Order: sequence, then structure tokens, then C-alpha cells
Amino acid sequence: MEFMLDSANIEQIKDLNELITIDGVTTNPTILTKSGMQPEEALRKIAAILNKDQKLFAQVVKTDYEGIMEEARKLSAIRPENMYVKIPVTRDGLKAIKTCKEEGIHTLATAIYSASEGFLAAKNGADYLAPYTNRMCNYGDGVAEVIRLINMLKVNNMDSKVIAASFKNVDQVAALIENGIPAVTVPCDVVYQMIGHPATGVAVDEFSANWNKTYGRDSFFEE
Ligand code: G3P
Repeated sequence: MEFMLDSANIEQIKDLNELITIDGVTTNPTILTKSGMQPEEALRKIAAILNKDQKLFAQVVKTDYEGIMEEARKLSAIRPENMYVKIPVTRDGLKAIKTCKEEGIHTLATAIYSASEGFLAAKNGADYLAPYTNRMCNYGDGVAEVIRLINMLKVNNMDSKVIAASFKNVDQVAALIENGIPAVTVPCDVVYQMIGHPATGVAVDEFSANWNKTYGRDSFFEE
């Protein structure tokens, strides 16, 4: 199971990469606009934080087939390995995903709002499929639709991996992890909510207070 960060916030990516085990970083045009940097600089900085086994994802901006392919070829060359190009599943995007498969460019089919869209991108050879979980909740049960996509791929022995995206809270992430989601990409603010339940801090304070009262120090061993 892969756990990625959906962010271009350099400080938070650095911090979380030291704190927890992450398998990569996903970005999209909106996320890069919030980085305060030019897009290539932001990607270079993220790539410098990651080791070669951690994956980096960048999305095409052009929307016509030729333009998508031109940007996909350039984006896929940013790193020698583990570089993935995100392509929205529009008509032109689906066609580009098919061509990328033929050219050996790794892709993530993005902006998926239904299991059927995801299935077609899988047929075209996308490595990853990113359903927009939270946004899908505006049209019905987003979590259930993502689980439907996972099952569609499983029963048909299809290779694409579902990487659920667009999370607004911890419960949406947990609901998919407990249902066997192969990968998630989670915004840093939601990851921070997953870390450090307030009651954990209260429990630690209680341990420290009892220890100090009995032994008169803050360490296990006398110093
Ligand atoms: O990767 C982008 C996807 O996660 C969308 O997220 O928060 O814009 O719905 P959001």
C-alpha cells in the first residue's frame, strides 16, 4: 500500500518525509500555483527531497492531444526514474494516456469522477488512476464509488493501481485504507490531522508527571 503527499509545500514535505514513510509526492497545476515558485523550480526542489525510489507526479497543463503529448514527454524526462505524468481523463487525455503507454511514459489518469472513467483509463494503460474522493461526494457516495473501481480492476485482473485523491478529512482516508485501497495521496494538512491525537499528548504528560513525582527526574536513567 502506497502513501503519497499531495503537496508542493517544500517545508511540509521535508517535515513529513522525516516523520512518516511516504512513497512519493503528487502535484497538480493548482498545487504548484500555491508553491510561490515557478513550476519547474518547485518540482526540482521536491525531487531533491525525495530518494530515487520515491515517486514524483506532475500534471500536464495543455488540454489538446498534441499539447498533452508534448508536455508529457518533457515532464517524464525531469527525473531518470519514478517520474509519472498526470493526465486528466478527458477525450484528448484518454487518447494521450494510450500513446504514453506505447511510448513507455508512466502515467497517472487524474480528475476521475466515476468508476467507469477509471476503468477506461486502466484499459488504455494508465499506471495509476486518481479518483477525486471528496469531490465525488458532491455527486453521491464518493468512497463507495472508489471501492467500486478497486473491485472492477480486481475481478478483471487489471494492472492499474487506484490512488485515491482529493481528501478533506481523516475519515475519508481511513475508510479507503480499511477497504484495501492500493494507494492514497493526502494533502499535508490532513496528514497532520492523522498524527498526534490530543489524547496521546495527555497520556504522555501523565507518564512524565508520575515519573517525575516518584523519581524526581525526566529521564529513565539517572544522569
Ligand atoms: O491531486 C489533486 C486532487 O487531490 C484534488 O484535490 O483538494 O482539489 O479536491 P482537491
